[in-house]
Amino acid sequence: MDLKDKKIVLGISGGISAYKSPGICSLLRKQGAKVKVVMTQAATEFVSPLTFRTMTDNLVYSEMFEKNPSQALVEHIELTKWADIIVIAPATANTIAKIANGIADNLLTSMMLAYRSPVIIVPAMNTYMLNNPATRQNLKTLRDRGMLVLGTHTDLLACKDVGDGKMLEPEEIVDEIDTVLRKKDLAGKNFLITAGPTIEAIDPVRYLSNHSSGKMGYELAREAMKRGAKVKLISGPTNLQAPKGLDLIQVQSTEDMYQAVEKYFDQTHVLIKAAAPADFRPAKQAMEKIKKKDQDQMVLELSPNKDILKTMGQRKKDQVLVGFAAESENELENGLEKITKKNLDLIVINNIKAKDAGFKTDTNKVLIVDKDKQVQDLDLMTKTDLANVILDRVLQILK
Ligand code: PMT
Repeated sequence: MDLKDKKIVLGISGGISAYKSPGICSLLRKQGAKVKVVMTQAATEFVSPLTFRTMTDNLVYSEMFEKNPSQALVEHIELTKWADIIVIAPATANTIAKIANGIADNLLTSMMLAYRSPVIIVPAMNTYMLNNPATRQNLKTLRDRGMLVLGTHTDLLACKDVGDGKMLEPEEIVDEIDTVLRKKDLAGKNFLITAGPTIEAIDPVRYLSNHSSGKMGYELAREAMKRGAKVKLISGPTNLQAPKGLDLIQVQSTEDMYQAVEKYFDQTHVLIKAAAPADFRPAKQAMEKIKKKDQDQMVLELSPNKDILKTMGQRKKDQVLVGFAAESENELENGLEKITKKNLDLIVINNIKAKDAGFKTDTNKVLIVDKDKQVQDLDLMTKTDLANVILDRVLQILK
């Protein structure tokens, strides 16, 4: 996330989901954002303005005509001038209707007649209200005006109906804010990113695989997308939720991954191979489950898989190629060998034995080496931050 010093106006209208708005505020503040809160009178019935006053270190705005002499007279205009983004969460059917129709009968809706920054509308209401043609039309009007209208979750609602209309969670909302505000420095670039392990079937029950969770590759895909790239994520089997908005191609074996990479490689500007494909597969895949017999040992014969990255390295024209190396010893030496052998622009070398690094962890500690053998020795950091460091390096090469 990159929300440090971003100026965010959080508008809150009067629905039960307003109980989640302090959570949004808290996450934004933790990311270093500056927050000003605007509440409708109805919203103040659900959550106290004092909560937001304390959390934001700022006055909370709700009255059109404030009694407080320190507040500006034309607050609704001052707020729109100040904001990098306006987020209305929750946005009730009533407030959405007023904004769509230009009604300005409170500070929040008056502000929405004068907005000039990006706007995110986060609806929350009963299913029938959401599906009412009036609300549908109003939401369409807001979308047509260029506002980002987020979806809702289906769940048991406060009114005891089960259905669509539950407000998104604070984490999801803050993630959307981050996406909108992010500099789109990778716009116009096609990224092909691989993630996760591959699995090589022995028989219908057993397979060979490795410990890759896919986290590193998924973070690269998510961050590249936030920065404006068009991303195809080729993923082996993982338990991860793919970020919305990218093209997910799910594969099983190294051969499947090879086929997918080769299909899209020519239209790709940047290939990042964070996956851990199996180097070998069983020479023969048994069609039926192999039976345990009275035997002292079982020998499994293996055949080599194609080296996907090496093949693309031989074929590359002006694509940027980034490889990873998972090493347990002599990492720099082994990594340097791979950068030459596979014709890479960058290699990211993890020592999989290092603490909190490599497989499965949320953090990683790596060396990044370029073609000229320049070594960047990075501190331990989250895989999200590392993804951005790698993308910064890719951007330099693209320029
Ligand atoms: O998924 P996580 O749990 O987050 O863990 C991240 C990671 C440790 C898996 C990742 O950061 C990583 O190091 N990935 C590369 C693992 C690997 O296969 O390393 P390697 O040294 O065996 O391969 C070197 C490069 O060649 C890699 O970019 C690999 O994708 C590629 N390769 C390998 C074999 C093969 N048959 N084809 C390939 O393209």
